[in-house]
Amino acid sequence: MSDLADVAKQFRAARSDPHLAVLEGFHAVKHAIRFGAAFLALVGTDADAAGRLADALAPDLRERLADNLRVVSPETFARLAPQPPTTGLMGIARRPQVDLHAVLSSPEPRPVVLLEDPRNLGNIGACIRVAAAAGAAAVLTTGAQDPWHPEALRGAAGLHFALPVAPFPEPTFHDRQLIAVAPDGDPFDPAQMPSRAMLAFGTERHGIGDELLARADDRVSIPMRPGVSSLNLATSVAAILFGWRLTRAAPGPP
Ligand SMILES: C[S@@+](CC[C@H](N)C(=O)[O-])C[C@H]1O[C@@H](n2cnc3c(N)ncnc32)[C@H](O)[C@@H]1O
Repeated sequence: MSDLADVAKQFRAARSDPHLAVLEGFHAVKHAIRFGAAFLALVGTDADAAGRLADALAPDLRERLADNLRVVSPETFARLAPQPPTTGLMGIARRPQVDLHAVLSSPEPRPVVLLEDPRNLGNIGACIRVAAAAGAAAVLTTGAQDPWHPEALRGAAGLHFALPVAPFPEPTFHDRQLIAVAPDGDPFDPAQMPSRAMLAFGTERHGIGDELLARADDRVSIPMRPGVSSLNLATSVAAILFGWRLTRAAPGPP
């Protein structure tokens, strides 16, 4: 099979395979490698350019990139994604299995982020990125969007591999307190937040649904200037998680 046919076929198949993740761009590839992803393919248009990017942005990964990169023509590369990344790098990796029971019952003092029916894939990615940076226990989602969609991976810069990320169609909370984060809650006091909380955030247009609100142990808001209706979903996740992180002794690596 030609170079074009076999690589294009592999990427096309990976996009609809729920066990695989398609990584678009240097940063997504970088974090996936750094956090231990198992790669099935790593392709680029220019090995020297990839090496220079690694030197500038991730010298720790230079050798692994160089050893595993398969160089393809720019024409082939252009067919691997709806918007091929300008960094000229893409990959396919296995999605790690997530044991939801283990995530929920973990005694580690870290909150779980629950996104109720998030619609925007870039927003989902931004939530995962900030949750990984803050040291959250996991990001779980309800609704139709796949949190492992390539666009969400791009928005998260590949940080899906740094913490458990999974669909969670029927949320259960184990022994975690459910805290609904909503503009009409009581003002958020990070010092009062239980570290093992399940933090629920609502869908972009309508916020948290009545059913989840009714199940919440607490409802907190991020104070805003009068006249502002709400924050962006990922910004809200960032404010709450970093409020928590900055008021705790450094919680060490997950
Ligand atoms: C764009 S907002 C949705 C706005 C929606 N109209 C509402 O009233 O909730 C998406 C999510 O971000 C969170 N959020 C946004 N601004 C917030 C605030 N000031 N306080 C607490 N949560 C907020 C909530 O979880 C909300 O469901």
